[in-house]
Amino acid sequence: MNRLAPSILSADFSKLGEQVSLIEKGGAGIIHVDVMDGHFVPNISFGAAVMKSLTGKTKLPFDVHLMITDPDKYAPEFVTPQTEYITIHQEATIHLHRSIQVVKNLGVKVGVALNPATPISSLENVLSDIDMVLIMSVNPGFGGQKFIPVALEKVRALSKLKAEKGLNFDIEVDGGVTLGNVADVAGAGANLLVAGSAVFGADDIVKRCEDFNNIIK
Ligand code: DX5
Ligand code: ZN
Repeated sequence: MNRLAPSILSADFSKLGEQVSLIEKGGAGIIHVDVMDGHFVPNISFGAAVMKSLTGKTKLPFDVHLMITDPDKYAPEFVTPQTEYITIHQEATIHLHRSIQVVKNLGVKVGVALNPATPISSLENVLSDIDMVLIMSVNPGFGGQKFIPVALEKVRALSKLKAEKGLNFDIEVDGGVTLGNVADVAGAGANLLVAGSAVFGADDIVKRCEDFNNIIK
């Protein structure tokens, strides 16, 4: 089943709890949590404390996207009963196989994210170990950027590879996803659709989530 994953990076942090209630009401499937360290990406967002302030305030699971150097060290901080995925970047760790095991051993699903310039072939030897591949459709660091079309080709190629190998990892697309392109993204094979500014920038956040769901479900 396809799920909408609104990124709280674009939410109004002064009323985060309320905004999360709106996306839940609108039918969002999971909360995308963008963690940036000002080192792996040129921006700092927020840490585990902000995410943990939402536990119990929503029934939605957390989809943690770690855009940080040294994910092995900080991943444990993001484990809560609501954490479904912790995703690390292929480019952020020298020993990807080890980092994947570190996250798996925390008892949550593990995802690996690829920047726009990183080929899917870089995951060939770990694909059967992971629960999700996150295809970045912008260079990570900021919300509100424009969708980079090569991401669609990567999703198609990855879907094909997944079918050929008989694997069943999820495919997530993140960055520049809008009502205008989400049909193409889901059609290419992505089942987790991240949208930040396209959700939280709307005047009516509930309706915007419903509009997304009408397209992707
Ligand atoms: C980019 C983040 C994305 C971003 C999505 O570094 O990983 O999740 O916030 O925001 P939009 O949908 O506005 O591109
Ligand atoms: Zn993200």
